[in-house]
Amino acid sequence: KTHRIALYPGDGIGTEVVAATVPVLDAVASITGRFDLSYESFDWGMAHYDRHGRVAPEDFLDVLRGFDAIFLGAVGWPARLPDHITLTPLIRLRQAFDLYACVRPARTFPGVVGPLRRSDPIDVVVVRENSEGEYIDNGGLFATGTAQEVAVQTALHTRRGVERILRFSFALARTRRHTLTMITKSNAQRYSYVLWDRVLAELAPEFPDVRTDKLHIDAATLELVRRPHTFDVIVGSNLFGDILSDLTGGITGSLGLNPSANLNPERTTPSLFEPVHGSAPDIAGKGVANPTGAMLSGAMMLEWLGEADAATLVRDAVEQTLAAGVATPDIGGLTTTAQFTDAVLGRLRQG
Ligand code: NAI
Ligand code: MG
Repeated sequence: KTHRIALYPGDGIGTEVVAATVPVLDAVASITGRFDLSYESFDWGMAHYDRHGRVAPEDFLDVLRGFDAIFLGAVGWPARLPDHITLTPLIRLRQAFDLYACVRPARTFPGVVGPLRRSDPIDVVVVRENSEGEYIDNGGLFATGTAQEVAVQTALHTRRGVERILRFSFALARTRRHTLTMITKSNAQRYSYVLWDRVLAELAPEFPDVRTDKLHIDAATLELVRRPHTFDVIVGSNLFGDILSDLTGGITGSLGLNPSANLNPERTTPSLFEPVHGSAPDIAGKGVANPTGAMLSGAMMLEWLGEADAATLVRDAVEQTLAAGVATPDIGGLTTTAQFTDAVLGRLRQG
């Protein structure tokens, strides 16, 4: 079986971490002998902009629709183009393909000391509602430029949207430690998050084996720093999930370690896999980006494509590499991206 992958390396270290991940995916494909991967790579981002005056072609959604999955590095180069222009294709992609479940695992790795310097291991997954909530494009500026200027921006939370992301999160909790924490702010936002509270209460009896808990976003940021090891699956709206996944990434070590999946659970469109980090202009071109987040995103993609054994091989090889002290500068070492990649490939070949 051949899985067809669209590569969207993007800008800055996006291209570097994708180049590091592809040989790892190819290596596990050949070791397991169970599947092949075929790639088509697109130069969307600044490279495309330099030649065509836009960061992606008009029909890029149609181009992507035929693939089994999309693998993205990172987009954005703020010194040359504003972020809302370079990131538009990514945001359109998530919405047009209804990739409503954004899954962002964060864990501590042996060999990597996180900023909290705790001994209990952290192993959480943030599930971010990725299709509605606070990020719908609805609002406006009124009386612009006057002293009476007003900005209005409304969020939209639908029962369908809330129910499907909560069901997804319950199901995910069942595959882990059976604990689901829902993040809201229903004490102050009396409509949207009250709907979340109500839907959670309705669904919970269907999942008696999953322990549910609720926290307001402000308390959640505190508790994640104070007792991070007690959390398992955390679910929140588009905005709260965005905030909390940077926090969980931060407390476990480096942003360079964290993978993510943007899933369409019904599989009517290709899902998108990408490291959580951005294009990192400060280190781009130096060959020192940590490819861990990208490689683990590759593992999530393989699992989604039905290749769970291959995904486990990638995860194990990356973990063993980190545990052996092979470390890029962001986690305190001197290893280059290429050396890290060779170390992972070496572990894979040893079996
Ligand atoms: P960033 O994630 O690119 O970098 C933040 C800090 O983390 C930098 O100091 C960087 O060197 C470090 N870092 C990030 N990934 C790393 C890795 N793999 N290895 C080692 N160090 C790493 O965030 P920043 O600087 O705020 O954004 C840069 C650009 O990336 C902007 O244009 C932003 O909009 C874009 N961006 C794109 C995302 C995407 O494509 N999904 C996500 C986040 C930001
Ligand atoms: Mg973010």
